[in-house]
Amino acid sequence: MADPIRGHSLLSHNTFAIDVKADWFFEYGSEEELLAALPRLERPLLNIGAGSNLLFCSDFHGTVLHSAIPGFEILSDDGESAEVRAGAGLNWDSFVERCIANGLYGAENLSGIPGEVGASAVQNIGAYGAEVCRLISEVRTVDAESGEIRVFKAAECGYAYRDSIFKRPENKRYIVTSVVFRLSRVWKPNLGYRALEQAFEGRTPSAAEVREAVIALRDSKLPDPKVLGNAGSFFVNPVVPGPRADTLSLLYPDMPRYSAGEGLVKLSAAWLIDNAGWKGQSIGRAGVYEKQPLVLVNLGGATGEEILNLARTIIADVYDKFAVELSMEVNRI
Ligand code: EPU
Repeated sequence: MADPIRGHSLLSHNTFAIDVKADWFFEYGSEEELLAALPRLERPLLNIGAGSNLLFCSDFHGTVLHSAIPGFEILSDDGESAEVRAGAGLNWDSFVERCIANGLYGAENLSGIPGEVGASAVQNIGAYGAEVCRLISEVRTVDAESGEIRVFKAAECGYAYRDSIFKRPENKRYIVTSVVFRLSRVWKPNLGYRALEQAFEGRTPSAAEVREAVIALRDSKLPDPKVLGNAGSFFVNPVVPGPRADTLSLLYPDMPRYSAGEGLVKLSAAWLIDNAGWKGQSIGRAGVYEKQPLVLVNLGGATGEEILNLARTIIADVYDKFAVELSMEVNRI
């Protein structure tokens, strides 16, 4: 069994490319390996995926854990739908690709999202009119405190927009080891998102074509973390009471707004940041991406604190101008 590594750089473990260290780093390739190592790992523990939604603001004093648990196994298949178990360490986009190659549908709109299967179930990743919680049937975890296995049914995971119970501090003890997805055997494209619908001008695309279109859309808007460090959307789209949105719509008739149920309206954080004048701006080595202002970027050698300072300045300015409070999507460590 591999041993924890002392004084490990986290530079290649976070897509923001923040240069910090963990006192200890431990990568495990199976649930058994994780269970065997747990009693001897220095606390606190921080389990990470590909680090594509993390902002490290300082060195981590404890053990950073990373799952390399592989696997893609079809558990059941009745011709209408199939259940697939995927290991937490499987790259998310490889999972999507394998689903399509196996004639399993539902994940194609989530093509190209950085990260791994385990984190997808924690973050409830979403894009282009799809959310992963609609595909998840159960999440298998190891309780790092008791050393027991605990399986959560999707209904127990508290899924909401970019949220789950696994993000709560008291549930950080649950380390996801695998996820069971229910996918459809029947192809039915989900073209509800306007830009995606426009890409096909009324014809019915194949799943592989939807995947290609989603990747092209993402590439046109989002920076490649290998070139410009970033963690995708830094903020979540704010949900406000209807009357608040109506007041803003009177002042800004072009402001995008989406129904969020029960008298609530989801606003576009990108629009608010753009219209507050932040698109393409920077403070020191922290910048606002010029094509999608929801994305903050590391212009080269930025610290987590510098990125956070830019984020806080934007939050205060957007609040001053629109009286809407933005909250961060990225997990700060
Ligand atoms: N907009 C501007 N200025 C810009 C860019 C966008 O005003 O420069 C406005 C436009 O009005 C546009 C609206 O923002 O219609 C929405 O933009 P976009 O379609 O890019 O989507 P988003 O709401 O900004 C969300 C997700 C993305 C996901 C896209 C596509 C969140 C926090 N973000 O962004 O997810 O890829 O939709 O579905 O919900 C991520 O979570 O890391 C992520 C990239």
